[in-house]
Amino acid sequence: MSQVLRSSAWYSGDDRNAYIHRAWMRRGVPDSAFTGRPQIAIANTASDLTPCNAHLTEVAQSVKHGIYEAGGIPLELPVVSLGETQVRPTAMLWRNMAAMATEEMLRANPIDGVVLLGGCDKTIPSLLMAAASVDLPAVVVPGGPMLTGHFRNEALGCGTDVWRLSEEVRAGTLSEAMFLKSESSMIRSKGHCNTMGTASTMALVAEALGTVLPGLAGTPAPDARLLEAAHETGRLAVELVADDRRPSRFLTAGSFHNAIVALAAIGGSTNAVVHLLAIAGRLGIELTIDDFDRIGEHVPLLVNLQPAGKYLMDDLYRAGGFLAVMREVRDLLDPDALTITGRPFVDYLDDARIWDPEVITPREAPLLPAAGIAVLRGSLAPGGAIVKPAAASPHLLKHRGRAVVFDSVEDFHARIDDPDLDIDADSVMILRGCGPRGYPGMPEVANMPLPKKLLEQGVRDMVRICDGRMSGTAYGTVVLHVTPEAAAGGPLALVRTGDWIALDVRGGRLDVEVPADELADRRPDQATIDGYANPRRGWERLYVDHVLQADRGADLDFLVGGSGSTVSRDSH
Ligand code: FES
Ligand code: MG
Repeated sequence: MSQVLRSSAWYSGDDRNAYIHRAWMRRGVPDSAFTGRPQIAIANTASDLTPCNAHLTEVAQSVKHGIYEAGGIPLELPVVSLGETQVRPTAMLWRNMAAMATEEMLRANPIDGVVLLGGCDKTIPSLLMAAASVDLPAVVVPGGPMLTGHFRNEALGCGTDVWRLSEEVRAGTLSEAMFLKSESSMIRSKGHCNTMGTASTMALVAEALGTVLPGLAGTPAPDARLLEAAHETGRLAVELVADDRRPSRFLTAGSFHNAIVALAAIGGSTNAVVHLLAIAGRLGIELTIDDFDRIGEHVPLLVNLQPAGKYLMDDLYRAGGFLAVMREVRDLLDPDALTITGRPFVDYLDDARIWDPEVITPREAPLLPAAGIAVLRGSLAPGGAIVKPAAASPHLLKHRGRAVVFDSVEDFHARIDDPDLDIDADSVMILRGCGPRGYPGMPEVANMPLPKKLLEQGVRDMVRICDGRMSGTAYGTVVLHVTPEAAAGGPLALVRTGDWIALDVRGGRLDVEVPADELADRRPDQATIDGYANPRRGWERLYVDHVLQADRGADLDFLVGGSGSTVSRDSH
């Protein structure tokens, strides 16, 4: 290695500090480990409480072999991990904390580069945010989706089928006993959710950004090829250091353009919008919600996966994988956007093929001609709101209905199945107090379950509006990320049950039909205000005081941008 390594600021020389840094790391490690060999951290989000990532410790072994083989020194670094299904009130509350803690530990330690191991929803976003802010050579290994589980000869989609089956129970078309029986078939193997939920989406989008070895994302977690690619990534990480290939040197607006094309073509999770906005914010790249609408507008939906379609991640991989999807939309991609290998992303599309056109539909016969995320604005969402038309009911994309307003998730649960609730299939359900500040943490509650009495009548979708998020595995005509949120003074706080709401997805409008002066004269009810979080101390207090709105990626205001990898002062 010709250049001076960052880690040599710790390890080289004969002074007392270098002695300390080396001595404590020795423990059987020879002298040669400290003389000119790149120190590569493996930021590992494996945790027993993040079951989707638990196997990453095995993946880390393969990464280590690759790093050693290429002459580097691998150093496993456990970082904050978030188990989407386990932590309450929502994993999103700690995405920024995970990003901040990872950034700080990467900066503080004697490392020259890092391999990022993630999987479950928030883990890849937090790792990429950290890597962008510390700006050290970094490459992602997505842990991969689980294999498809089956129940009564039917494939089960993680998340999506939980929502579907539980609604069937409430509608009276599935027994509770059968529902519970499906539980042990839901999760068949190691890996993250097998639907096109947030984990799958972020793995593929990370590859489109250029931060993953091309062709790796989407490899199922138990597949031997994942370990092979992890080994290759370890080798690559050493090369990145030699080449000083840092995020700021290859991630550009073009990389985000490609990520947005990918997001639309795969029918990916709406959560990718907040995550990509946050990552771009760390890099100083101008990205707005309107870019998602503009770039995604003419991108066809090509992947027939739940929740927008039928199949699961396992099927996508066997059908040709992510690169086969992207090959179909090659002309829409930025040809200059680079990957971590130093070559443009489009270079990797030549050999890709579709092997099963049921799963990956060709460009000429897409599942939908336009799949992008739509941005709405209007008197109910002056800062914008988003909707995923691919997951919505076509007949509801233009709709007018009376609002039925809920002040909190608790209020919603208490009243939704009340037989006397004044609601019908044309009503517009509104849930507020669920934004970044209000909940806090912007939970996935926007896809409100429908009232039992309407389910029993056969109603399966209604317009729902919320300042929170929805699970990437969810479906329905759900308008989400309403900005400003109610707790930040948005007009969502002022809507009353009975107000007329007008939704026009094609026209990009979301309005409450109350005269502007009348709306301006309204004040939020006490019950609405009581629904907002007011934490006394700790992370929640810091979060509520500093979190930005959804249109800024819900990052903390003081975490936008980066500080680089320089540590100005020594430890002794
Ligand atoms: Fe971990 Fe879905 S719960 S990826
Ligand atoms: Mg989720």
